[in-house]
Amino acid sequence: MQLRIPGPTPLPPQVIEAMNRQMINHRGKEFGEIIRQITGRLQTLFQTRNDIFLLTASGTGGMEAAVVNTLSPGDPVLAISCGFFGDRFSDIARAYGAEVTMLNFEWGKPADPDTLRQALKQNSRYKAVMVVHNETSTGVANNLAAIAPVVREFDKLLLVDAVSSMGAVDLPVDKLGLDVVASASQKAWMSPPGLAMVSLSPRAWKAQSQAKMPRCYLDLAEARKFYEKNQTPWTPAVGTAYGLAAALELMIAEGLPGIAARHEKIAKKARDGVKALGLSLFPDEKCASVTVTAVKAPDGVDVKKLLQTMLTEYGIELAGGQQKLEGKIFRIGHLGWVSEKEMDDVIQALAKCLPKVGYTKQNPVSK
Ligand SMILES: Cc1ncc(COP(=O)(O)O)c(C=O)c1O
Repeated sequence: MQLRIPGPTPLPPQVIEAMNRQMINHRGKEFGEIIRQITGRLQTLFQTRNDIFLLTASGTGGMEAAVVNTLSPGDPVLAISCGFFGDRFSDIARAYGAEVTMLNFEWGKPADPDTLRQALKQNSRYKAVMVVHNETSTGVANNLAAIAPVVREFDKLLLVDAVSSMGAVDLPVDKLGLDVVASASQKAWMSPPGLAMVSLSPRAWKAQSQAKMPRCYLDLAEARKFYEKNQTPWTPAVGTAYGLAAALELMIAEGLPGIAARHEKIAKKARDGVKALGLSLFPDEKCASVTVTAVKAPDGVDVKKLLQTMLTEYGIELAGGQQKLEGKIFRIGHLGWVSEKEMDDVIQALAKCLPKVGYTKQNPVSK
């Protein structure tokens, strides 16, 4: 059985084993040491000296923490979106009363830094720019190395959803000056769902002290106060923390360059593999994500049937499209604990499965 959706991702045996243990006092010395070690290792992989907090929440909780800790109701913000999760980020800001202006890009295309520059030139009032690094819904990686300097040029806060990229790619938070960055344990971190991680720059802390959006559970000033005592304000997901600690041990041993190179290799295998089957990638290959590959559904192929057959006959679980992409694409998740051999198996299974659901190479994609 291969779980090849873009999260939750499979757990290495060491992680499963680490979680097979008794609970401990979440305010005791041992758990304090676990929190400290996890945080230090996250800082290494986020490539930052910024504070990082573990929140017992999913990735969306991390995104919400980014918003409520830096903004006030009525603050104008520019929300970049090129997919489902970009829209979600903007929904959160709107729900808390921010005055959201959308900077939309076609689904399947990346955010364009020049268009962003124009938008920031036209309106100097924006307090922050929000962006999803890796748009899981379309398989597009936004170019943060080009976007971040534009945001810096206009001296705005930059809030980043790196839920499905951090831990798999080289995303240097300090070098790029990313103010708030959110990720989640069930993605590249080879851990179960339950913990979001959020980093805050000194500039973000300054905004935090002035931000007036309502917050309580996700108040990072509380998180900071408790971190000084090696604790979290509220009862954390202790079991997930056991798993994450073990996963980080493996990740640090592999090293970020090794992790990033492995993800790139496997992503290329996925793209080359589907193309060799006569299929087309949904995004332009130049901006294709290294953690999830989105593939156009071939004409005449019912995506639901394809996914069902892959699962029941080949034991491989792929993901469909979300929202307006439902039935139009399918997605292969390849983040976290994944090997080249596993991607070969996925492609081989697709080769056998596709003809069973009505696909012939002579009848390629036109959508
Ligand atoms: C880019 C991105 N942002 C946010 C989320 C939401 O995370 P969660 O489902 O953990 O709340 C996801 C989950 O797939 C994601 O891929």
